[in-house]
Amino acid sequence: MVKIGIVGVGTVGEAVIKNLEKNKDLIKARAGKEIKAIKGVVRDINKKRDIDIPLTTDYKEVTRNPEIDIVVELMGGVESAYEVVKDALLHNKAVVTANKALLAYHRFELQKLAKTPFEYEASVAGGIPIIKALRDGLSANHILEIKGIINGTCNYILSEMKKGRDYKEVLKEAQQKGYAEADPTFDVGGYDAAHKLLILASIAYNIDAKPEDILIEGIENINLTDIEFAKEFGYEIKLLGIAKKTGSEIELRVHPTLIRKEEMISKVEGVMNAVSVIGDVVGETMYYGPGAGGDATASAVISDIIEIARGNKNPMLGYKIPLELEKLNLKPTEEIKSKYYLRIAVNDKLGVLEKIANILATNNISIESFLQKPRNGYVKLLFATHICKEKEIKKAIDEIQKLDFVIKPVNYIRIEE
Ligand SMILES: NC(=O)c1ccc[n+]([C@@H]2O[C@H](COP(=O)([O-])OP(=O)(O)OC[C@H]3O[C@@H](n4cnc5c(N)ncnc54)[C@H](OP(=O)(O)O)[C@@H]3O)[C@@H](O)[C@H]2O)c1
Repeated sequence: MVKIGIVGVGTVGEAVIKNLEKNKDLIKARAGKEIKAIKGVVRDINKKRDIDIPLTTDYKEVTRNPEIDIVVELMGGVESAYEVVKDALLHNKAVVTANKALLAYHRFELQKLAKTPFEYEASVAGGIPIIKALRDGLSANHILEIKGIINGTCNYILSEMKKGRDYKEVLKEAQQKGYAEADPTFDVGGYDAAHKLLILASIAYNIDAKPEDILIEGIENINLTDIEFAKEFGYEIKLLGIAKKTGSEIELRVHPTLIRKEEMISKVEGVMNAVSVIGDVVGETMYYGPGAGGDATASAVISDIIEIARGNKNPMLGYKIPLELEKLNLKPTEEIKSKYYLRIAVNDKLGVLEKIANILATNNISIESFLQKPRNGYVKLLFATHICKEKEIKKAIDEIQKLDFVIKPVNYIRIEE
C-alpha cells in the first residue's frame, strides 16, 4: 500500500481524498497498489469538514512520518509551502504539489534538492494534463511556441464583456460565483497566469526566470470600445501567456491579446483553459479543459500520485542532463516585437490625426488600419500598427500622451497573428 499525507485539506485536498475513495478500485488497478490518505494537515482543526481522516496542525507529523510515502502539498502560499516541501524532500518523501506560486519562485532549487519523485501536474491549467504532455508526450520536439489561456477568471470576464457587459459588473459577478477572489489582483493582473507560464517555460526551455523578470499585464484596462474594435476587425481579446523561441532567445509574456477569431484558441470561452504548443516535429497541438475546481484539480493530483506509485521517476523538469544544446537567454522586454492596437481619446480638433501619425512614423511605427468612433463631446481614435518593438511603441505612447488634445490615458493591446 502507498500511504499519503495531505498538507492542506481545503477545496483541492478534500476533493483528492474523496476521489481516492470514490475510484479506489480503478486507482489500485492502475497503480498496481492500494493508495490511501492516512493524515491531513490544516490550520484550523475545529473547522467542520466533509472528510474523515486524522488531522493535525503540525506538518512535521506528515513530512517526517515514517509511515508516509508521498507528501501532497495543497496549502498554497510561497514561503510556508516551500518550508513544508523542503522538509518532505529532506526526509526522503516523494512530493506532489498543485502550487504554481511555489514553483514560480522555487522550482529550480526544488529540482536540485529532489532525490525522490516530484510531480506538479495540477499547478498549470488544473485538470488539463499539460505538464505530462510537454515533458513526456512532446519530449522528441524542440518547442517553438507555447500559447495559453491559463487563467479562467480572466477568460470568464472577457467572454462576458463580449455580450456588452461592463468589466466591473462582470468582475463582481465572478466574485459572487467564486471564480475570482475578494482581492482579484492576482488573477486579473496576470500574475497567476505568469506563474503557470514560467513553469511551462522551464520544461520547454530549462529557463530560470522569476515573475519580476517578465512582461506581465492584466485585463483591468480593457473596455467595451476595445471589444467593439475586436469584433469589427475579426479578433477576440484573450489574456494569453506566451513563450516563444526566437533565435537563441526566449520571449516570456502575459498580456491581453487580440487574436484572429478563426484560431482554435479564440473559441475558448468562460472559465475553461486551453494551451497550444508548437513542436518542430509534431507541429501545433492543442489541450483544452477545466483549469480549476476541486475535482478537476484532484484529477491531476491523483494522476501524479498514481505515477509515483507505479514507480515512475521522471526528472522534475524533464531533463536528465542540463539542456546544453544551445544556451537560451530571456529576451529583454523592450526588444519584444508585436503588432499593436492603440485606443486614443482626443478632443475633435483639426490636425489631430496628422500629429499622432507623425509621432508613430518618427518611432518607426506604420499604421495598418484606422477607425474613428465619435463619443459624447470627444472622439476615440483606434489604430492597428504593423510589427514594431516594445520600446518603440512605449516611446510613441509617451509622446502621444503629452499632446494637449489627448484627454485620457492611451490604451494598447498587443496583436498576435
Ligand atoms: N482551487 C483550485 O481550483 C485550484 C486549482 C489549481 C491549483 N490550485 C492550488 O492548490 C492549492 C490549494 O488550493 P485550494 O483552493 O484547495 O486552497 P484552500 O481551499 O484555501 O485550502 C487550503 C488548505 O490549506 C490549509 N492551510 C493553509 N495554510 C496552512 C498552514 N500554514 N498550515 C497548515 N495548513 C494550512 C487550510 O487549512 P484550513 O482548512 O484549516 O483553513 C486549507 O485546508 C493552492 O496552491 C492552489 O493554488 C487550486
